[in-house]
Amino acid sequence: MPIPGPVLRADGGVGAISDAGGLHLYQRRLHAEYGGVVRFQLPGVGVAVSVADPLVLEQTVRIDERPSALFAFLEPLCEAGNLQVIGAEEHAPWRRVLLEALAGRPSHERHFGEFVSLVEGLAERWAGAGGDAVLLQKDLTALSLRMICAYALGGAGSDVVRAEEVVDAFEVVLSEADPTTQRASLALDHLRATVDRVIAAHEGGREIAPEDDRSDLIRALMAARTSPARIRDTVMVTMLAAHHTTGVAVSWTLHLLGRHPEVAERVAAELDRVLGDRSAPDYGDLRELTYLDMVLKESMRLYPPGPYGARETTEDMVLSGADGTYGIPAGTTVFYPFWAVHMNPDHWPEPEEFRPERFTPEAVAARSRFAYVPFGLGPRSCEGAGLAMVEAQLTLAVLLKRFRFRPVEGHEVTPVERFVLWAADDIPMVVTPRATAGR
Ligand code: HEM
Repeated sequence: MPIPGPVLRADGGVGAISDAGGLHLYQRRLHAEYGGVVRFQLPGVGVAVSVADPLVLEQTVRIDERPSALFAFLEPLCEAGNLQVIGAEEHAPWRRVLLEALAGRPSHERHFGEFVSLVEGLAERWAGAGGDAVLLQKDLTALSLRMICAYALGGAGSDVVRAEEVVDAFEVVLSEADPTTQRASLALDHLRATVDRVIAAHEGGREIAPEDDRSDLIRALMAARTSPARIRDTVMVTMLAAHHTTGVAVSWTLHLLGRHPEVAERVAAELDRVLGDRSAPDYGDLRELTYLDMVLKESMRLYPPGPYGARETTEDMVLSGADGTYGIPAGTTVFYPFWAVHMNPDHWPEPEEFRPERFTPEAVAARSRFAYVPFGLGPRSCEGAGLAMVEAQLTLAVLLKRFRFRPVEGHEVTPVERFVLWAADDIPMVVTPRATAGR
C-alpha cells in the first residue's frame, strides 16, 4: 500500500517545516497525524520515508549507508572524506577501531580521574555563583568539550597539547557559519597540527601510551595503520559528535530534575548512600547508581540530544508495521525521527510525562528494543554511547551530590533543533549547596 503523507509542495517541504517550528516538531506532527511510517519532503533530498514505529525500525537496522547529501555541510571538516558517509566496506574496519578505543572499560577508567577534575572545577565555579543563576547548557557543553578534548588528545602532556587553545580553536570551527573562511581554516589548521604533534610524539617513542594500549584513541588508530589524514578526521568527527550531545544530555536532565524535586531527592539519597562523604564517584560506583541511570535514560527519551538519523537503502525493501505494509525501492532515504520514536504513544503511555520508572529492568524487558534509540541503531549507531554514559553519569553524580537546582521563574525553556536538541535561550538555574539548603 502507498505510504501515507502530506500533499507534495513545490517548495520541497521548506514551508511545512518552518510552519511547524522546525524539523523536530514537524516530525512529531507528521507521525501523530499519519502513523508510524510517513512519506514527506525533506529539503536537499526530495521525498524521504520517516519511521517512528519501532517494529519497522528493526527491519531497517542492517542498512549500512547514509544519504551523503544530508552530510555535505561537514565535508570541509574532513580531509579523507566524512567518516559518517563513507561506504560500508571502508566504514566497518574504522568502526571496529573506534569501538575498541571508545567503548572499552580500560579507556573509560584511564580518563576517569581527568574527567572528575574537570567536573569538580565547574562545581567549584558554580559554588561561587552566590545565588546568581548559572547557564546550564553553556557551561555543560563547554565542560563536555574539555572532556572529549582530554579524551581524544589527552595524556600527551602539556608540551604537545595546549588544551585551552584546542578548545578555543574547536569553538571557532563550530561557530563559523562558513567553514571555509580564513578564521575557520586557521582554527582547523591548528587542530590538525595538534593531532600531528600527538602522532609524532607517539612515533618518537615518547611513551604516551604503550603500543598495545587501545585505550588511547590516536594510538589505536595508528596501530590500525590508518593514514594521518584519517586520524585527523577521526579526532575532528569524534569531537564534533561528542561535545554538544553529551553536554545537552546533562543539561536536559538537570532541567527535568529542577522541575521534579521529588525525583531529585531520590537521586540525592542514592548518591548519599553510594558515595557517603565523597564528593565524586569512582568508576566502579557508577554501576551502583541505578536510579540516576534511569533518570538519565528517561531524560534522553524526552529530549534525545541527537534528534535524527538517516539511511539510504541499497536494495528494494518491504516494511511491515502497525499501520500497514509498504514497499520502498533501493535508493530511498529512510529518516529516523528519534524524538517521534520516543514519543510514540503505542509504546510509551502518556509520553510527555517524566517517569524514570519506565527504565526499571522489568519495564525495559517488556518493551521493543527499538522504542528507545537515543544513540541510533545498527552499524552506524553512535560509537561513543558507552563513553557518553560514563561522562554524563559522572557529571550528574558530582553536581547532584553537591547542589540543588531551582529553575528561574518566568524563563521558558524551548527545545529547538541545532544539530542537537538545544534549549533556545539556555536553561538558567539557581544552584544551592545541598548542605545549606534547609534540610
Ligand atoms: C549523550 C551523548 C550522545 C548522544 C545522544 C549521541 C547520539 C548519536 C546519534 C543519534 C548518532 C547517529 C546514530 C545513527 O545514525 O543511528 C551518533 C553518531 C555518532 N556519535 Fe554519538 N552521541 C553522543 C555522544 C557521543 C560521544 C561521546 C562520541 C565520541 C566520543 C560520539 C561519537 C559518535 C560518532 C563517531 C558517530 C558517527 C557514527 C558513524 O557514522 O559510524 N557520540 N551519536
